Amino acid sequence: VLTNGNEIFNNARKGKYAVGAFNINDLEWTRGILAAAQETNTPILVQTSMGAAKYMGGYELCLHLVQDTIKSMGITVPVVMHLDHGNYEAAKECIEVGYNSVMFDGHDLPFDENLEKTKEIVKLAHAKGMSVEAEVGSIGGTEDGITGAGELADVEEAKTLAATGVDYLAVGIGNIHGVYPENWQGLNFDRLQELAAEISTPLVLHGGSGIPKEQIVKAISMGISKVNVNTELQLSFAKATREYIEAGHDQDVNAKGYDPRKLLAPGTKAITDTTKERIEWFGTPSI
Ligand code: G3H
Ligand code: ZN
Repeated sequence: VLTNGNEIFNNARKGKYAVGAFNINDLEWTRGILAAAQETNTPILVQTSMGAAKYMGGYELCLHLVQDTIKSMGITVPVVMHLDHGNYEAAKECIEVGYNSVMFDGHDLPFDENLEKTKEIVKLAHAKGMSVEAEVGSIGGTEDGITGAGELADVEEAKTLAATGVDYLAVGIGNIHGVYPENWQGLNFDRLQELAAEISTPLVLHGGSGIPKEQIVKAISMGISKVNVNTELQLSFAKATREYIEAGHDQDVNAKGYDPRKLLAPGTKAITDTTKERIEWFGTPSI
């Protein structure tokens, strides 16, 4: 059942748990992630980056893929279809197309411009009953070819952005996209505490792959209500696929191990397993 994120994430903030937001890349990713939500009977957010949507053939196709997969798999848990790290044009397009939720990521704009554009997106999205995520500070690392050093969210700016009526707010607290470097300093809990004390909007932790479980659990107890996970699913998928090939199954002519439906099955199952593990870490309660 597709829905916006308002109730799901407000409940999460109040209940001190998080709901996972998982990035999709294709049918296997979509099926793998939705299966995890259904098997655990928990709500979930499925998101497309601009790059993934381009790869798959556009936002409309992505929305239909998720809608039709929900139908064909008989998914009954709430699912939020969300645009991840959208620029202004992408956010507007996804609102037009009928996503349930969009992130307008204006962190690299001058703050006043980020604020103005966030306000516009909030107005457009709320008029159609959709949720909005904004970002303040920045998430380090690389995603979709965009690299940033990472900058802690300024508390005053975060308060100002939250006051626009955004439904969730992504905050830079030392988190990084992609694989964390060996010398990573960990999450900045002091800053998270300052932000959470001033802002009641559900807070979002990006770069959820590779952060030790204890730090994620602690951040959730302090006000993080949405955790984004992308790279971890890619690593799981790649590992399972590699093992299948290294075991020589793809060469097994009798079993037709080269059939993509067989070749991609272990990776798809790995996506489901990793998603289920994260749902457990995040403490998302069953419905
Ligand atoms: O927006 C997506 C997430 O922040 C994913 O980060 O690839 O490090 O898990 P990740
Ligand atoms: Zn992100």
